[in-house]
Amino acid sequence: MAQPPTSKLTEETVRTSSNQLFCCKSIDKLIAEADEPGHRLQKTLGPWSLTALGIGAIIGSGIFVLTGTAAAGEYFEAPSILRTQVMDLAINLVKHGSTAGALMHGRPPAGPSIAISFILVAFACSFAGLCYAELASMIPIAGSAYTYSYATLGEIFAWIIGWDLILEYVVSNVAVAVGFSGYIKAQLAAFGLVLSDKWASPVRAGGQWTGAYFNLPGFLIVFILTLLLVRGVRESAEANNIMVSIKIGAILTFLVVGGMLVKPANWTPFAPSGFAGIVTGGAIVFFTYIGFDSVSTAAEECRNPQRDLPFGIIASLVVCTILYVGVAVVLLGMMKYTTFVSGKAAEAPVAYALEQLGARPFFRSVIIVGALTGMISSLLVFQYGQARIWYAMSRDGLLPKLFSAVHPKFKTPHWSTWIACFAVGIPAGLVDIGDAADLSNIGTLFAFVLVSLGVILLRRKQPERRRAFRVPFVPWFPLISIILCGGLMTGLTVITWIRFVVWLTLGLCIYIFYSRRHSEFAKARG
Ligand code: ALA
Repeated sequence: MAQPPTSKLTEETVRTSSNQLFCCKSIDKLIAEADEPGHRLQKTLGPWSLTALGIGAIIGSGIFVLTGTAAAGEYFEAPSILRTQVMDLAINLVKHGSTAGALMHGRPPAGPSIAISFILVAFACSFAGLCYAELASMIPIAGSAYTYSYATLGEIFAWIIGWDLILEYVVSNVAVAVGFSGYIKAQLAAFGLVLSDKWASPVRAGGQWTGAYFNLPGFLIVFILTLLLVRGVRESAEANNIMVSIKIGAILTFLVVGGMLVKPANWTPFAPSGFAGIVTGGAIVFFTYIGFDSVSTAAEECRNPQRDLPFGIIASLVVCTILYVGVAVVLLGMMKYTTFVSGKAAEAPVAYALEQLGARPFFRSVIIVGALTGMISSLLVFQYGQARIWYAMSRDGLLPKLFSAVHPKFKTPHWSTWIACFAVGIPAGLVDIGDAADLSNIGTLFAFVLVSLGVILLRRKQPERRRAFRVPFVPWFPLISIILCGGLMTGLTVITWIRFVVWLTLGLCIYIFYSRRHSEFAKARG
């Protein structure tokens, strides 16, 4: 594994603004550092390797779990405004001047029209992806939106994005680990080994206590991967290609095996909740696309970023969309969408439908083991990424030094990696996939909005700076991205928005009381 790069910025930091909140790191210095011998990454990636990278990061557990729950919707006996979608609430307030008409019993089901939601979300992601690509190619150093925003928008934006990215990395991995647990349980059951629900189910699901103690498989998989990550195991391009083939193989097998079990009557009604159901479904299955932005972070390793980055982003989105729409159409043709509302059918819908309809055990195992492998690779990539973001934030003084401590023997940021383990593993033992995915979605969508805004601002602030890739039709494309991502955010519920605001407020408190005082810009006064 590559050693985390060291920084000389601390000795050389120059304040770029009298207000620390808007101080930026020097892009030239960052690029110069990345170009130093020993830090220079090889420019080996072409359009197809980038596409494989994207698919590897995108397909995790979402498609195997959320397709069922998003199609089935949620119904709670007791009405609560907390479960209302923000869009529904806003429409009712504007139209009727009150919230009385808003749906307070949970999410409306998308039904088979969830297939349309997948297409809609891919469309939104492609605009956001182009914006990511421009920032990544402007600052072609390995990193994420945190580094781009620190170099371009200023410290406070970098902090907000860095803090927000925890939702994309940690919270999405909580959801993937919960999905893993559902499928490992289904696979072990096929071998006659039944895990007790008390120790292999979420403690709280759908706003209710389930009676379970802890979801142990979800915790254990993260723990085992952490042992590997601390020792320096990282997916190489070759390993990623193998994983991608396994994931695609599992999905294609499902399309054929499940396709033979489809009963077309299950596709009616196609859109039981109309457009509202499609948007709400989209806000949930957005989760299945999280990770496509990882293509843009490989800008420094591309042979021809202007041509290959947009190709890699769009091609990986197109391939995943085709696969996702296929899974949705087949799964919801196999069983009525209402089947997937709770219990085992909600935890592992693909495994459940195959078992109920009597698919051959061999094919069931091929599909489930393929799905599990995909989830493991997705967990690995995100756990790795989270530890590196914390490493970078700590190196810049925004988080305690512990986060950038490097293991003396393995040369990995071991403290960050272990903290990420427990930050993911413990909640994975407690919550259900829906809550984790919703929170992760709102955080990631918000990061996309900020990145798209960043592109517009930087075209004004630094028009002359070289961009290896330029988004066409600025400001229109970034604006479309902001509107579509913002629109998807409004498809999420009030409780998700409250959690998100609490999360950002907590982040700002940490910034005010710790990070602002320890930042390298705080030290480089004058
Ligand atoms: N896109 C990833 C998944 O679906 C996070 O699991």
